Amino acid sequence: MRFLILSDIHANWEALSAVLHDAATRRYHAVLCLGDIVGYGPNPNEVVSWIRTHADVVIRGNHDKACSGVATSESFNSVAQCSSRWTREELHEDHLQWLLNLARGPVLVEDFDLVHGAPDDEDRYMFHEHEAETGLRYVTEQLTFFGHTHVQGGFIGEPYRRHFEVSRLNVLPNQMSIVPERTYLLNPGAVGQPRDGDPRAAYCIYDSTMRIVEFCRVTYDIRTVQEKILERQLPQELAFRLASGD
Ligand SMILES: [Fe+2]
Repeated sequence: MRFLILSDIHANWEALSAVLHDAATRRYHAVLCLGDIVGYGPNPNEVVSWIRTHADVVIRGNHDKACSGVATSESFNSVAQCSSRWTREELHEDHLQWLLNLARGPVLVEDFDLVHGAPDDEDRYMFHEHEAETGLRYVTEQLTFFGHTHVQGGFIGEPYRRHFEVSRLNVLPNQMSIVPERTYLLNPGAVGQPRDGDPRAAYCIYDSTMRIVEFCRVTYDIRTVQEKILERQLPQELAFRLASGD
């Protein structure tokens, strides 16, 4: 089975469209979404509508919670709060209700897990090895996909006595095999707002039969998204950061 794994789309329709076009050439059977479908971007209704129709498994992200009212946006900075308010007003009522009822990770698919932030806390970031090490103590499966950081890659843990020796995937191989005796926390990267220095939309394909993960990047029409962000009077920082990818 081949899975298209999407995270942090953030209402960026142009990025999602480019990813779908690119992914079609690689073939997949099911779509998995790791949350943060909305927030920041200018097309929340279009993106929610596509995910509702086409995604097979979806878990919630912190922006989905804030925009739908499951959680407050108190912990957000002013830019995120502003986009969260705008998104909430913009979303159709039935899309809001759908976001409100999204599952919390971890959610098991075949023999791997999906989480938004970390295995122990859906809102916790795993940027660094020590944060991943904490997460690895809570995993029940060999492979977990996570999002939230908007950084493509992740971590590999090798059991050592009572803890894990954790290494980060710094230089990404395009294709990576899942091998026995290691535990993986893998991030497909952000479709709609990459923050790893590469402004291209990020996603991955996981082939669960071959046990191979393919990390992919694709260019998209950033300028159109920037124009929409400014037209809708969302904070201009949200437009600028798409071009820098950080
Ligand atoms: Fe996000």
